[in-house]
Amino acid sequence: MRIANLVVDTEVLLAPMAAVTDLPFRTICEEHGVGLTITEFLSARALCEGAKKTTQKLTASLDGRRFGVQIFGRELDALAQAALLARDIGASLVDINMGCPAKRVVAGACGSALMKEPELAQQLVRAVRAALPAEIPVTVKHRAGWDEKHQNAPEFACAMVEAGAAMITVHGRTRTQGFSGKSSLTIIRKVRDAVPSQVPVIGNGDVLTLLDYVRMRTETGCDAVMIGRGALGNPWLFRDIRAWLAGEPVPGAPTVEERSAVFLRHVGLMRGRTEDKRLIHEVRKAVAWYTKGLPGSADLRDQSQAPREPDALVAATVDYFAALSRGRPRLRVALAATAGSLVAGADEAPASSGTELGPVAKAAVA
Ligand SMILES: Cc1cc2nc3c(=O)[nH]c(=O)nc-3n(C[C@H](O)[C@H](O)[C@H](O)COP(=O)(O)O)c2cc1C
Repeated sequence: MRIANLVVDTEVLLAPMAAVTDLPFRTICEEHGVGLTITEFLSARALCEGAKKTTQKLTASLDGRRFGVQIFGRELDALAQAALLARDIGASLVDINMGCPAKRVVAGACGSALMKEPELAQQLVRAVRAALPAEIPVTVKHRAGWDEKHQNAPEFACAMVEAGAAMITVHGRTRTQGFSGKSSLTIIRKVRDAVPSQVPVIGNGDVLTLLDYVRMRTETGCDAVMIGRGALGNPWLFRDIRAWLAGEPVPGAPTVEERSAVFLRHVGLMRGRTEDKRLIHEVRKAVAWYTKGLPGSADLRDQSQAPREPDALVAATVDYFAALSRGRPRLRVALAATAGSLVAGADEAPASSGTELGPVAKAAVA
């Protein structure tokens, strides 16, 4: 897939997720084959003001791997300046968030509220486009629309492209839906049909398994898929998608040993990059992600509230994996179907998927 001059060789992207897609998380996904990662959304104004909490999240991927930075706001100058800060750390693309449904964001008329102001949204894209060198694409991520009656994603996407956006990502829910109901494949299809074919359209929402991926690609015609919650504790989903796209055997869910090793790698990446006082919280999150759905994991997670030292929690988790492996050495558990319940503040976890495939998707995986 090409985003202007940027080539992404595996058509799967990691979705930006606040308080999740930090450098360790992105690195794990990159090491498992994701095509591109993007930082969580960063307030353009906070970046311009040099707010430490925000600027420390502006991080380049390791080992020179390409990455995107997502920014949000509604002030032309702030967005343009923030985009330059992203350029300064080597970002390969700058994405503008026009889909966040959070109250505090829409209260400031940012995020998904911009779908109600397409002209201002266009000016924002133009301002960022004008600020950045030509080789860095400007992209936009938005929702289906504000509410059921205002599903303007196709027109909105075209307006963003006219203003200079080189890629559109659509999460097929409206702002009022939050995370309830299902992401609509139909609206993503409509966006794909409306936007000029040289501009990639990325489908997003509820992709938890390889079958969901195939269904999203085949039923919407999208050029790539962006995955958020399905990647929590399951970077192996990217390995499967990459193998499937390459026509290779799909490795499937990891063994307990692999899971333990990647958990340790993830924690290792946190060390030295996460403030000491935050480390225990981040390790707890990782424990929850990597053990969800496994036998006895609820007990481990309950106990994980007690240790104050990250090392004690890591050791307990490694012991847990070792015991699991001794008892059931060949256990392979797919966690994807349970990932939805980790959404903070979601009205409702997404319906588990990977079951009913449409006829086109069935043919594609057959
Ligand atoms: C915890 C969490 C944080 C999120 N933060 C962001 C964000 O910073 N920027 C953004 O564009 N979307 C954000 N999203 C939305 C996701 O990028 C994605 O559009 C949504 O979760 C649907 O995709 P999924 O079903 O694959 O998770 C967030 C979602 C979650 C669950």
